[in-house]
Amino acid sequence: MGFTWHFGAVVLVLALVALVNAEDPYRFFDWNVTYGDIYPLGVRQRGILINGQFPGPEIYSVTNDNLIINVHNSLPEPFLITWSGVQQRRNSYQDGVYGTTCPIPPGKNFTYTLQMKDQIGSFYYFPSLAFHKAADWYKYDHKTLQTILDRGHRLPFPNAVLINGRGGNDTSFTVEQGKTYRLRISNVGLQNSLNFRIQGHQMKLVEVEGTHTVQTTYDSLDIHVGQSYSVLITADQAPQDYYIVTSTRFTSQVLTSTAVLHYSNSARQVSGPIPGGPTTQTGWSLSQARSIRTNLTASWT
Ligand SMILES: *[C@@H]1O[C@H](CO)[C@@H](O)[C@H](O)[C@H]1NC(C)=O
Ligand SMILES: *[C@@H]1O[C@H](CO)[C@@H](O)[C@H](O)[C@H]1NC(C)=O
Ligand SMILES: *[C@@H]1O[C@H](CO)[C@@H](O)[C@H](O)[C@H]1NC(C)=O
Ligand SMILES: *[C@@H]1O[C@H](CO)[C@@H](O)[C@H](O)[C@H]1NC(C)=O
Repeated sequence: MGFTWHFGAVVLVLALVALVNAEDPYRFFDWNVTYGDIYPLGVRQRGILINGQFPGPEIYSVTNDNLIINVHNSLPEPFLITWSGVQQRRNSYQDGVYGTTCPIPPGKNFTYTLQMKDQIGSFYYFPSLAFHKAADWYKYDHKTLQTILDRGHRLPFPNAVLINGRGGNDTSFTVEQGKTYRLRISNVGLQNSLNFRIQGHQMKLVEVEGTHTVQTTYDSLDIHVGQSYSVLITADQAPQDYYIVTSTRFTSQVLTSTAVLHYSNSARQVSGPIPGGPTTQTGWSLSQARSIRTNLTASWT
């Protein structure tokens, strides 16, 4: 997945990158959606796979591309995928939510036609029916969660925060000394806001949900459910490994997951305390959201 990073419960991921292109090319995808075993929390669970993969495949696309995605539903129940944040101009029936798009019946297929006209940024996709989205970061099966909700109860507290579909603190990203990387960060969870930070590194925010921003630097970022950000980080620290940390916000019990930012010339494993972040403070989050909103620039229309 390169440096497309997705946080929270990463069921499925869509990344769109802006580049200028004279023509409007077509990119074709053939996806087979099945149930299969996944182990995001170390125990076997029933997950939803695309072409055998969990999280689902990344879509790399440039501005103005036409994406033709043939989705075969091999689940024993109806299925839909929605493309969060992608503008469906004059084709809302491609949005993939119940009400605008008919569910794909079991054993059938539907071909999405998405036009990335004038669009830049980082987006993600997820299944929009029947609580399929929850098929990952609880140890319960998503059918059990569905039943809990249907009986009028609240969702249980999640078991973990996943980073790129893994909850074991064992994901590692290798960077080269001196280089700058773009991280695409999405909170694809169901209910919890997350804080994201990297030990010893600052993040320069360059994109929020398909819009360029005035570039402001942050030590940590709050990412609410459904949000996607791009940040730049430069590997300009001493050559060693650093913690990448994400933790839940506004929860009395704080769930934390870590990954490793590994310098290719690293001389030392991660060390020191895991950097802390805001937990229940709301003012901090509001002022950050305000600074991001006021610094958004509409560089495309
Ligand atoms: C999808 O995968 C299932 C399970 O491997 C297989 O039985 C089915 O034929 C596949 N369908 C398509 C359209 O590839
Ligand atoms: C279903 O998939 C077949 C190829 O596997 C394709 O020819 C057909 O157009 C697709 N149908 C729909 C409704 O997308
Ligand atoms: C991952 O690390 C965090 C922070 O130390 C810890 O709270 C959490 O329990 C760890 N998760 C696992 C699965 O070990
Ligand atoms: C972003 O907005 C805040 C106000 O909320 C302002 O203080 C800050 O200077 C702005 N940053 C840039 C780079 O313009």
